[in-house]
Amino acid sequence: MESPSSTVSSKQSVALEKVAEAWKILRPALWPTPLVRSPALEELSGYRVWLKPENLQRTGAYKIRGAYYKLHCLREEGRTRQVVAASAGNHSQGVAYASRQLGMDCVIVMPERAPLPKRRATERYGARLILEGSCFDDALAFALQYAPEQGREFISPFDDMEVITGQGTLAWELLEEMADHPPDAVLVPVGGGGLLAGVASVLKQRLPQIKIVAVQSDCAPAYVQSWKALRDGAPEPLPLDVPTQETVADGVRVRQPGLLCWQITRDLVDASVSISDAQVYQGILFLVEQAKLVAEGAGALAVSALLDPAVRRQMREAGVEPGARVVALVTGGNIDSLTLQRVLERSLVDKRRARALSVRVKDEPGQLGYIMDVLRRKRATVLDLRRSWRSRALASDLADIEILFETEEEHQGQELLQELAEEAKARNFELLAEPSDPGPSQAGPQADSREDADPNKSQDQPQE
Ligand SMILES: Cc1ncc(COP(=O)(O)O)c(C=O)c1O
Repeated sequence: MESPSSTVSSKQSVALEKVAEAWKILRPALWPTPLVRSPALEELSGYRVWLKPENLQRTGAYKIRGAYYKLHCLREEGRTRQVVAASAGNHSQGVAYASRQLGMDCVIVMPERAPLPKRRATERYGARLILEGSCFDDALAFALQYAPEQGREFISPFDDMEVITGQGTLAWELLEEMADHPPDAVLVPVGGGGLLAGVASVLKQRLPQIKIVAVQSDCAPAYVQSWKALRDGAPEPLPLDVPTQETVADGVRVRQPGLLCWQITRDLVDASVSISDAQVYQGILFLVEQAKLVAEGAGALAVSALLDPAVRRQMREAGVEPGARVVALVTGGNIDSLTLQRVLERSLVDKRRARALSVRVKDEPGQLGYIMDVLRRKRATVLDLRRSWRSRALASDLADIEILFETEEEHQGQELLQELAEEAKARNFELLAEPSDPGPSQAGPQADSREDADPNKSQDQPQE
């Protein structure tokens, strides 16, 4: 891939003095999120890797930075004390929290299906909540109309210089932490592009050689497509407006990057990649198991990308050599427990560490014991078990038992199934096909097209 020179050449740019000023205001209002080294990711990627755990930030995401700084500016300049924001979740929590702290009156518009924990947390911060539409773009359209009607200032989640300046403090803090040995590359999740604009501006001004990698979801890839279109010589207007799909990375589900964000970043990004939901699942699992960090889908994008050999190849093409010092931003941790459970189970099944099986037995005492004996011998953990009589083919004296189990290694699961097949012959029960095993994900890190193997194949409360 051709990587055009990526110095600060954009007409629009974030002023470093402003970011320094924002950092003075934000530092006492935020929680520190010290960098975490990730040996597991280092072994896997060949880079030296640090994670910036903004999932541990106040309100559970980096978004508070831009929201707080924006509201601070409005209040200081006496512009208004009445605000409205639209958000899939994290921006709204940031605006709601900052409004409460700064004594402002706040209305938040969210899509009807915004995750319950994000809705509850926003209300707990004292904001009035309006649910509108099926996705972020619907909520945004409503809020944009509502703001002038109600005489409220609309707080953009990304396309606003003061919001972007606030997000830039993340890079400022990062450079303070790595003052002696600055990073060579930073991976940044992208939705509307506000985080990217703030972070890339600060980093490229302070470290012109640094490489910036923008990471999106395949389900909302407008920035990546726009970035590629620009390099392919596509005519303006850019950025593109690209329809989105349901994704576990709901925080970055945006149809079109902000125009200001695009203008600031279009020449600052060295590689631009998108990854599948299955890969994001693996990233969330990786963070839980290897870094003890709980991340939401959007928050896990950068780590998920680093797990993908194809992304690492693109990074090498952009000049990020093995051994480079790489930072992955873990941008948010607002995932509800049920989603987390589903994601973890699905990831285990994808990696064949968890498997589902179904057994048809005589519906009488003791039958389950034979099956459990095999599971025990193979040191498998039962994650879920259900007895069912739903199959039409089932005689009245039979029952189906569906079991989801986990083994430490993939081969143990296969051996277990073989042993169970033997036991089935001896004990006269029937081992049915694995009931709902989707198999390894097509687009996951294990997909054939990848160049090298992936060894790891892997609150609903306000954050107060
Ligand atoms: C957790 C998380 N990460 C990344 C982003 C992307 O930020 P931006 O829209 O500024 O690109 C968001 C946006 O809300 C987010 O919630």
